[in-house]
Amino acid sequence: MTDTTLVILGATGDLTKRLLMPALYRLHRLGLTPGLRVIGYARQHWSAKRFETHIHKALHEFAPDFTEAQWQRFRRQLDYVGGELNAAELGCIKDRLPPAALFFLALPPPLFGPAAQALGEAGLARAPRGGWRRLMVEKPFGSDLSSAETLRGQMHRDWREEQILRIDHFLGKETVQNLMVFRFANRFLEPVWNAQHVEQVQITYAETLGVERRAAYYDRAGALRDMLQNHLMQLFSLTAIEPPSNWDAEVLRDHKVEVLRSVKPITAGNGTRHAVRGQYRAGKAGRKKLAAYHSEADVPHGSNTETFAALRLEIDNWRWQGVPFYLRSGKRLASNRSEIAVQFRRAPGAVPGLVDAGNNWMVFHMKPNQTMTLLANAKQPGLEMKGHQVNLCAPYVRDGDTEFSAYEQLLMDALAGDRTHFLRFDEVEWAWRLLDPVLKTWSKGTPDFYAAGSEGPDTQNRLLDANHRWRPIALAAAGGA
Ligand code: BG6
Repeated sequence: MTDTTLVILGATGDLTKRLLMPALYRLHRLGLTPGLRVIGYARQHWSAKRFETHIHKALHEFAPDFTEAQWQRFRRQLDYVGGELNAAELGCIKDRLPPAALFFLALPPPLFGPAAQALGEAGLARAPRGGWRRLMVEKPFGSDLSSAETLRGQMHRDWREEQILRIDHFLGKETVQNLMVFRFANRFLEPVWNAQHVEQVQITYAETLGVERRAAYYDRAGALRDMLQNHLMQLFSLTAIEPPSNWDAEVLRDHKVEVLRSVKPITAGNGTRHAVRGQYRAGKAGRKKLAAYHSEADVPHGSNTETFAALRLEIDNWRWQGVPFYLRSGKRLASNRSEIAVQFRRAPGAVPGLVDAGNNWMVFHMKPNQTMTLLANAKQPGLEMKGHQVNLCAPYVRDGDTEFSAYEQLLMDALAGDRTHFLRFDEVEWAWRLLDPVLKTWSKGTPDFYAAGSEGPDTQNRLLDANHRWRPIALAAAGGA
């Protein structure tokens, strides 16, 4: 790596402390970032020493395998500048930058646009000869289509699309990247990955956590904006894309956008068949009592924010015609079960009794375990020619493998200028286009209730075709599959 500087705007905040610095520290420890300097920038007029002490404490808390010896080497990479988010003060760092510089906006969302503009005005978006300037920013990219477009306008005033790296941290997850490899590196999958053989697809991201201390953000966002518009849409489009001709960022993103563009629109007329929302009320996890969303700290009285959202999406193309894709995510559900599950159509029943054991499912488990399982039918031991279901299960990680966290992956990609695992604006735009009508409908009325610690609202069943059932979220209920 040539000399590169990463400038973190919002360097005294939570994201820097919990995620960015631990990721940078580990990359440094693995020797992957030689020549990288990190400048923290924030409003506090701290000395570099004070910033160091702050990061030292954070790494103690959040970096696994922290050692003082390693820290002594890592701290030499760090520097700090205090200043406001305006061109005059940001301009002060210009002389400290080498030809290659990456800016990370670890800031509250309302500041994304102003920060991008201030950097531009300070002349920091233009690289000197032979160098580069990139801007990394994390969701939310607007709160609907129109605010996303406004944000784009602000960012694009001084930055070109190729310079902007929009993070969806799911794209940095090993198990999500595996989806692309597994789909396209295996000959046996492609012939059956279509409507002729696939019955339905279920994408679930269930969490046992409640809103915790994030109500100030979450109550304005809700599950649809927080999880579906971004993370689950990415899982959806990666499951459904056509094989790209190569891993080039533009090719891959063209293919993902093509999926989003092919989804049949959800309208006010068909909305009840395609979208369900829920909110948790009091419930239990084992013996532990769980409070209702309404009683969580900082949730406004009578809030109608959804803590659960489910969608039924249909893709209007040759490959997926007639196959429902069910997507759902929620807080305070029965377990942390996260998976992409593809159900295949039944084998023709030419040999009665043999193929009746059940359907084939291919499941990419993300949580609680990272595994891939294929639910298949095999002969049940015994005198009869009877079938039963067996689980062909492969762990994703094996002993000795080095895994990287999403932030580690994405920081390395950003430094290398690889945009494959970042979002292009039109992906964001098409996801909003699909969901704007749902948000509009949900601006009125109330969500359906579900007990905390449960499977979610019963009304989610209305999205399903008559012969489909949601896969259980509770781990015990699901067995190994
Ligand atoms: C974040 C959401 O983007 O993703 C959170 O804001 C959610 O509400 C989180 O809990 C889930 O991602 P992970 O990687 O922590 O499972």
